[in-house]
Amino acid sequence: MSTHLSKDRLIIFDTTMRDGEQSPGASMTRDEKLRIARALERMRVDVIEAGFPASSNGDFEAVRAIANTVKDSTVCGLCRANDRDIQRGIDALKGAKSWRVHTFIATSPLHMEKKLRMTPEQVYEQARLSVRFARNACPDVEFSPEDGSRSELDFLCRVLEAAIKEGATTINIPDTVGYAVPQQFGEFIRKLRERIPNSDKALWSVHCHNDLGLAVANSLAAVQLGGVRQIECTVNGLGERAGNTSLEEVVMAVKTRSDFFDLDVGIDTTHIVPTSRLVSQITGFVVQPNKAVVGANAFAHASGIHQDGVLKARQTYEIMRAEDVGWSTNKIVLGKLSGRNAFRQRLKELGIELDGEEAYNKAFQRFKDLADKKADIFDEDLQALVAQEAGRTTEDHWHLVTMSQASGMGERPRAAVVLRDTVEKRAEAQGDGPVDATFKAIESIAKSGAELLLFSVNAVTTGTESQGEVTVRLAKGGRVVNGVGGDTDIVVASAKAYIAALNKLESKVERVNPQHQL
Ligand code: KIV
Ligand code: ZN
Repeated sequence: MSTHLSKDRLIIFDTTMRDGEQSPGASMTRDEKLRIARALERMRVDVIEAGFPASSNGDFEAVRAIANTVKDSTVCGLCRANDRDIQRGIDALKGAKSWRVHTFIATSPLHMEKKLRMTPEQVYEQARLSVRFARNACPDVEFSPEDGSRSELDFLCRVLEAAIKEGATTINIPDTVGYAVPQQFGEFIRKLRERIPNSDKALWSVHCHNDLGLAVANSLAAVQLGGVRQIECTVNGLGERAGNTSLEEVVMAVKTRSDFFDLDVGIDTTHIVPTSRLVSQITGFVVQPNKAVVGANAFAHASGIHQDGVLKARQTYEIMRAEDVGWSTNKIVLGKLSGRNAFRQRLKELGIELDGEEAYNKAFQRFKDLADKKADIFDEDLQALVAQEAGRTTEDHWHLVTMSQASGMGERPRAAVVLRDTVEKRAEAQGDGPVDATFKAIESIAKSGAELLLFSVNAVTTGTESQGEVTVRLAKGGRVVNGVGGDTDIVVASAKAYIAALNKLESKVERVNPQHQL
């Protein structure tokens, strides 16, 4: 007889495309969401919260497309606790192989009185009936008492007991405003589970915000002290205000300290860094260099003592292996003479799939253009190049034909740009710097009137020969779009990013951040 007891599984529930998208400026198109969903599926995330279907037609379509595409993860949609929202969720999700309806209503005295203007009895009834309605259509229903960490224990027990009775299969306790502290939060959940008579009929989960920088610590305390077996999290810790629990941090904490947590996590960690990059490129939210696990310095050893130690025995200063979380070894992977097959093979090894032959041909052409300018092509270059290609819309309105600029000490920078829509158009402008002059020249042709919300430059690899990757965020008429451009010349990269953003504004596919419409 085997004495081996299988470990408990910790479910990783990703909400990058729902709560993450609530970060101002992080709104995503349907196609961008699909790319992120595929990356999360490859990373073997258990549950993907794809959006908030009732919030806009755009989000409904995005959730539906993800539900129809993803096969290996459960696809979930968030719905307020009312029949209309839940029905929209059901309609968007029902094509999925495995799907979940997630419904929520606030239960703290403050939220019930001031925001919902409902009595506790009304909230109780609405929670109960909503779970019942969802459960009639879907066998997998998650219920969240919003602002749960600031709710009264007795009332919360009543609501959650009723939700489980009506068939909720997962109970998720949100720390909506990031107010909790680890020990207290863990014990709060333990008390809920002890007091609620049917608590063992549901799987328990937490959803933490990072306002005090405690989201990961609170989630782990809920696992350890409260016995929860699902953590809601986002790639790069993206999310409303200061963000949510960071996926990469909780996953690596539980894996690295398996001696302490003793839990089984299904995530393929080698996809963490590529997925982090993808999310950063799509949302325009740059990852801070000292961010745990995915920051550029997370595995960099600057001091001589540390470098010496790592060279002698890497465990002296490294608790995780960079390659285990998907950092490439920075070796040259391709160059000018590399052919189509080598290019395709390397993309495959990086877990990158493109849609059809035409996409591969275009990406290969861009790779050749880059290899003409840059002798050594690294994995990071390929990832950036493919991300830029995928970010292009099928009917780009504006194309960059050529550009030049002149600047020098004591001179006002000037730029000349030629763009093409149906015909070629040329403009010149002066500005405070070469990028400013270039953007002014582009604007004098495109006349978009858009407001520039963000301009950020990142080096794709180390060294001055690195490609610059620029993100530009533009806003117009309530729509916010991100454009990404890469080039070894950062002014050209900036122009490409600006034009990519203009094309998104033109294409009309981008939607406003859905939660802003509620
Ligand atoms: O923060 C929160 O309370 C939420 C819920 C809807 C789960 O995002
Ligand atoms: Zn949240």
